Amino acid sequence: MQKKIDEIEKSIDDAVKDVQSSKTLQEIKMRFLGKTGEISSLMKNLRDVPPEERPSVGKLLNALRQWTEEKFAAIETRIKDFELKKKYADEKIDVTLPGRVAGDGAYHPNTLIRDELISVFAGMGFEVFEGPEIENDYYNFTALNTPADHPARDMQDTFYLAKDLLLRTQTSAGQIRVMENKKPPIKILSPGKVYRSDDDATHSPMFSQMEGLVVDKGITLCDLKGMLDEFARKIFGDGVKTRLRPSYFPFTEPSVEVDVSCFECGGKGCRLCKGTGWIEVLGAGMVNRRVLEGCGIDPDIYTGFAFGMGIERIAMLKFGINNMKLLFEGDVRFLKQFKG
Ligand code: DAH
Repeated sequence: MQKKIDEIEKSIDDAVKDVQSSKTLQEIKMRFLGKTGEISSLMKNLRDVPPEERPSVGKLLNALRQWTEEKFAAIETRIKDFELKKKYADEKIDVTLPGRVAGDGAYHPNTLIRDELISVFAGMGFEVFEGPEIENDYYNFTALNTPADHPARDMQDTFYLAKDLLLRTQTSAGQIRVMENKKPPIKILSPGKVYRSDDDATHSPMFSQMEGLVVDKGITLCDLKGMLDEFARKIFGDGVKTRLRPSYFPFTEPSVEVDVSCFECGGKGCRLCKGTGWIEVLGAGMVNRRVLEGCGIDPDIYTGFAFGMGIERIAMLKFGINNMKLLFEGDVRFLKQFKG
């Protein structure tokens, strides 16, 4: 038995000689001390030893087990210590390395203009209302005094989703939703995406508009003009004037096209204003009485004005962007030039 014990002790010594990791050590430990390990098997065999020898053999085996356990414990402490030091060394941070620079984000030009417009109009008491992008025929056309056979429907090439469902072609649709739900005084601003089957350097199938609507007793075209003057000064700069030209929209009567004096040349005539000294920026007018009536507002008591502008168009004018595609391509080299 002593021979056998000596052999086991030697094979333990051999096995643990080069051990480096606690995982391998654990495997070796199981080989000797595990339930079916060599030492445990010897212990189990004790019952085959003649009874008179059992106490002395038992003693030897106990001593062997204790020796083995102590040996493994000592090695384990050494390895753990080594592993911890290695972990610290591996995780050491070189504080002299230069940091990674996180690039600044930038607001999209559309967002910048939309926010600027909202803040200018909020300063004049407008509240923001956002209507749905999927509309039905009634809100997008009929309620805006554009019935099915109206020639003005051809002004906007519409994307239809179903017989009565479409992608709104104008934020004007939101006017109806507001007037149906709120009695005057009304003073709302409605930004959002609109869709038209149109695609070239100055048109995109999806673009954004900003709608405005004011309804109250005694609102006149002069109020519209005064508000537009304020808008033009705030957005395009001091000294910029507005001019109204007669136009036509089914939902306004009279309707106007609004120009601002060229903020680039001060009105003398340049490339931006194509030599005219004026730049067209939006459509507007006095809300057609049929539209008010349709929303349950008495046009003999209340009047109102409305306006609608393309946000991309304002962004292109203000930032000197010559192709609308740039606003939709998401090219970071272009976008990062706009810091809010
Ligand atoms: N909805 C018109 C368009 O998309 C723009 C517009 C013109 C809106 C006159 C208005 C308005 O509210 O009064 O071309």
